[in-house]
Amino acid sequence: MEKSRKILVSTALPYANGSLHIGHMVEHIQSDIWVRFQRLRGHQCISVCADDAHGTPIMLAARDEGITPEELIARFYAEHRRDFDDFNISFDNYHSTHSDENRELVEHIYRMLDKNGHIDRKSIVQAYDEKEGMFLPDRYVRGTCPNPDCGAADQYGDSCEVCGSTYNPADLKDAISVISGTKPVERKSEHLFFRLASFETMLRGWVGRLQEGIARKLDEWFDSGLRDWDISRDAPYFGFEVPGLPKHYFYVWLDAPVGYMASFKNLCDRTDGLDFDTYWKPDSDAEVYHFIGKDIVYFHCLFWPAVLHGAGFRVPTSVFAHGFLTINGQKMSKRRRTFITARQYLDNLSPEYLRYYYAAKLGPGIDDIDMNIEDFVQRVNSDVVGKLVNIASRCAGFISKQFDGKLAPKLPEPDLYQLFADAGDRLAELYESREYSRAMREIMALADQANRYIDEHKPWQAIKDPARHAEVHGVCTQGLNFYRALIIYLKPVLPGIASASEDFFNSPPLNWDDVSAPLLATSLQRFKPLIQRIDIKKVEAMLLTPSESKPEQRSVKNEIDIDQFLNVELRVARIVKAQAVEGADKLLELQLDLGDEKRSVFAGIRSAYQPEDLQDRLTVVVANLKPRKMRFGISEGMVLAAGPGGEDIFLISPDTGAKPGMRVR
Ligand code: MSP
Ligand code: ZN
Repeated sequence: MEKSRKILVSTALPYANGSLHIGHMVEHIQSDIWVRFQRLRGHQCISVCADDAHGTPIMLAARDEGITPEELIARFYAEHRRDFDDFNISFDNYHSTHSDENRELVEHIYRMLDKNGHIDRKSIVQAYDEKEGMFLPDRYVRGTCPNPDCGAADQYGDSCEVCGSTYNPADLKDAISVISGTKPVERKSEHLFFRLASFETMLRGWVGRLQEGIARKLDEWFDSGLRDWDISRDAPYFGFEVPGLPKHYFYVWLDAPVGYMASFKNLCDRTDGLDFDTYWKPDSDAEVYHFIGKDIVYFHCLFWPAVLHGAGFRVPTSVFAHGFLTINGQKMSKRRRTFITARQYLDNLSPEYLRYYYAAKLGPGIDDIDMNIEDFVQRVNSDVVGKLVNIASRCAGFISKQFDGKLAPKLPEPDLYQLFADAGDRLAELYESREYSRAMREIMALADQANRYIDEHKPWQAIKDPARHAEVHGVCTQGLNFYRALIIYLKPVLPGIASASEDFFNSPPLNWDDVSAPLLATSLQRFKPLIQRIDIKKVEAMLLTPSESKPEQRSVKNEIDIDQFLNVELRVARIVKAQAVEGADKLLELQLDLGDEKRSVFAGIRSAYQPEDLQDRLTVVVANLKPRKMRFGISEGMVLAAGPGGEDIFLISPDTGAKPGMRVR
């Protein structure tokens, strides 16, 4: 037995202004399997998480709802905790970044960084909304793309979705603040910068601990140069004020990872024998791991270790990044009804199914994982129900009916059992290195072997011959011990089935090493079905329950009067033909029929529509927009669509009675 380890694990902190979805669950299930595995092996493994409660979007979301940010984050905190509990995620603590522990730690870290010469003060110019009295993050400025070849309207302040160019908000033409609808001005203010480049040597040494793909990414970042990081934001902001710099707050991404420590600190403060410094001092022999998605590697593999090191703490032992969930091969989408919230899933299906399915798909790398709905149903039904649980249900009945519920005193084939016990070392290696899909394959191969054993000995036939009763007793005891071994190996993945099986075996919680001795001459509880097959109707119900969609973009408040509105000529148009535009992955070229004339219009809706689906559809077009020259041709008008973007763009469709050319009011 290896020596007992002290391990601290975190998962990325979900933002406190939205519901969890089954994409988030990839990460929490991946890490929970690892954490439960470590505990099963007898290690001390503590798992913490929290809500990420600060930042501009949360401040504005609360304002939109007419509540305080504290009220908003309290609501999501309760929702998130309930979702995680119901998915059987075994956090030791779930805290919030908007907490006293976090404030103290962030202030401490900032003071240490400052004292050690890692903080710079610089004045910078940013877009400022005079009406709202606030500086505008890039995403809150919109305007016309400055690229002379493009000129797409209504683009973000940092990049154009149509042509892909990146720029500063000040470069946009006709820029407006998304919050007030007024034109932003430029204003200077003092900001705090973390000197990341000072940590290059330390970081270059540290990357050796990371996954290959991530280490390569870091090398690219080193080569393109590490830039100073702006860790402050101007008031108004929902976050922690910077001590000694009034009207300035710490940027949410500074205090968010500190939230890992704060959650742990909060746990230490109420747990005897758990000591914060033991885990976080520079020469600590405890291990610290962060499970994250591949989108937040920069924060976790550059800023975070540098901040920890600069402030006199230990750096993480490693960071484990995973890929993104796709459903039926595509990004989750509200329109395709594949944007499945955690609650929508839980209202219809057992968490064990998804835990098993993700385990069967997850490897140690950053590849995206696809959930094909048919494959999900088929795989879970065949593996968990058809192979695993079937072993128990084929044997349990005979034991309870014929043998007074008691297992035989010895195994007929101890060598065959030993084969199952011997698989433990190899399976432990696979779990340790997050090779879950391989582990599931090997476990299911053992399950096949167990089922073959039962097939060969046919207890249902043998039982008819009184002379063979002892043989049946042995076969079923052997079969149930195979099952017990497999349940031990699957306990990290299927905690619900494992716990019901422990009840069945009349057993205290099973540990990894319990596999070494088979269970004999013991009375069992009556066997109850451990899990049902996935009912396809439940899956359909889940996909049909529309998830609440919250507007991601605030509505613009610059009013126009009725005359200005009447100047906009809206007409019904029929899409005669739609086609992709080579070299522009966001655009479709539409041939429109406006009754008495034909128009050619470019629309940035390709991410949401297949050209062939648009043929003959009616839509509404701004008919008196001046023709605009774009890189790919002239656009003679603009079609109306709504939605936050990506796959969620909805072309406006008039009632079917409408005729091309009709005026819309
Ligand atoms: N609040 C930050 C993390 C701060 S950690 C100090 C954040 N929050 S998030 O809610 O957007 O994402 C939380 C985690 O979920 C991230 O690791 C992210 O990669 C992961 N995922 C979000 N959507 C996902 C999928 N569709 N698939 C897999 N993981 C996904 O980022
Ligand atoms: Zn552009």
